[in-house]
Amino acid sequence: MIKQLTSWRLHIRYEDMTEAFPKRIRTERLLLRPYRWGDIDDLMNYAVDEEWSRYTRPPFPYTRENAREFLADRVALSRPDQKVWCLELNNQMIGDVGFAWHRQSLSAEIAYSLSSEFWNRGLMTEACNVAIDTVFNNDETLNRIYAAIDTRNVASIRVAEKLDMKQEGVLRQNRMQKGQLVDDAWYAILREEWVTK
Ligand SMILES: CC(C)(COP(=O)(O)OP(=O)(O)OC[C@H]1O[C@@H](n2cnc3c(N)ncnc32)[C@H](O)[C@@H]1OP(=O)(O)O)[C@@H](O)C(=O)NCCC(=O)NCCS
Repeated sequence: MIKQLTSWRLHIRYEDMTEAFPKRIRTERLLLRPYRWGDIDDLMNYAVDEEWSRYTRPPFPYTRENAREFLADRVALSRPDQKVWCLELNNQMIGDVGFAWHRQSLSAEIAYSLSSEFWNRGLMTEACNVAIDTVFNNDETLNRIYAAIDTRNVASIRVAEKLDMKQEGVLRQNRMQKGQLVDDAWYAILREEWVTK
């Protein structure tokens, strides 16, 4: 049986394939590309919002120095075990999606975030679909992609569900988040599940 391409796959356009992963990827609405120093104003624009970092690591209040350190890490450093694409919509940098590899377990952790101005339009699901497809297609050793999500973060849990990730369990009081002990739900998708998606 020939599998019908789902509509988001039809829109994928890869640009600049000179590295292990395509540098730039176009989806129906987004451009996934490397960060650059000039993204600092767009980054500040949304990172100062308390809602944006409520369930994630970036500090609040967020300063320009935090943004500079973040971009230094993303632009200047080369990390062989990480791949991050920022998301551009209408020439504005509005978020990112990235992976950190755990080679021994043939797995990678996915992380994503988006400016609150653009929430609930399906944009992160669009970005994650193409990003996951790209890393599975370009790293044949990768077997499992997982996310650890604060159980209060219903929007992120919904994104994981829309990506067909399955909940594997909940780690209770797994870490301190902005002064509070929080539970993390673990979601994952296996290569064999992704290729038939
Ligand atoms: C999580 C995040 C990336 C989602 O991005 P997004 O582009 O809004 O995601 P989507 O639009 O693709 O999907 C969001 C889903 O959550 C649902 N949702 C959002 N808020 C909700 C709420 N309070 N209760 C129930 N569902 C909610 C939306 O309805 C949507 O589901 P639907 O398509 O079935 O209607 C965004 O909220 C974000 O950047 N948050 C801050 C950073 C973060 O938490 N990152 C994840 C760390 S694990």
